[in-house]
Amino acid sequence: MIKNSVIAYGVVSRALHWMSALTVFFLFGLGLYMVDLSYYDAWYKSAPDLHRSIGLCLFLITLVRMAWRRISPPPAPIGRHDWELKIAHVVHLLLIGLLLLTLLAGYLISTADGRGISVFGLFELPALLPAEKGREEWSGTLHQVGAWSLIGLVVLHVLAALKHHWIDRDETLRRMLGLKLKTSDEAESDADR
Ligand code: HEM
Repeated sequence: MIKNSVIAYGVVSRALHWMSALTVFFLFGLGLYMVDLSYYDAWYKSAPDLHRSIGLCLFLITLVRMAWRRISPPPAPIGRHDWELKIAHVVHLLLIGLLLLTLLAGYLISTADGRGISVFGLFELPALLPAEKGREEWSGTLHQVGAWSLIGLVVLHVLAALKHHWIDRDETLRRMLGLKLKTSDEAESDADR
């Protein structure tokens, strides 16, 4: 199933979600690693180059993801309470919002001197704004605050997914993993436990 249905995620939404999740974790780890490198370390220049190039890929994945959501809306949310559904909706919006904010702030840091970004050494993404004194500092702070808030929210998001799976025993995590959905008999007996 390529598109989402009313009850399940299709392969495109799942692939975009997990690609984006893995990339967020990788970029966060790489970001923490590279800020501690000294000038004489072999990765001093290549780690930030890789961080910027993969950050651009994540930006593209996020744009595709937003477009795909319009083409194929997600399945109906699962939850026992109205407030739970509302919180999940706000958290999903915040995850995408913080992701975009962090990526845009990263672009602003990298282009603060008016130079473009080399993407995997293949081509250059131009700087859309002229060089500006002080931009590197404020956009750096925004990037850092955005990244840490994003990771904090991801922790909450993962805990919610695990609560759905182990406590509510519903299909929320299974359908994002693409696992076989339970029959109505199985779901009923699980809900009674
Ligand atoms: C191990 C990490 C993760 C797990 C276990 C996980 C789990 C899930 C699950 C189960 C859903 C489906 C919710 C539903 O059906 O209502 C979901 C949706 C979603 N997740 Fe995650 N997630 C993870 C990481 C991330 C990360 C890193 C991001 C973004 C930065 C993210 C953003 C989203 C968004 C925006 C949705 C809403 C559906 C969509 O538009 O794709 N997730 N996640």
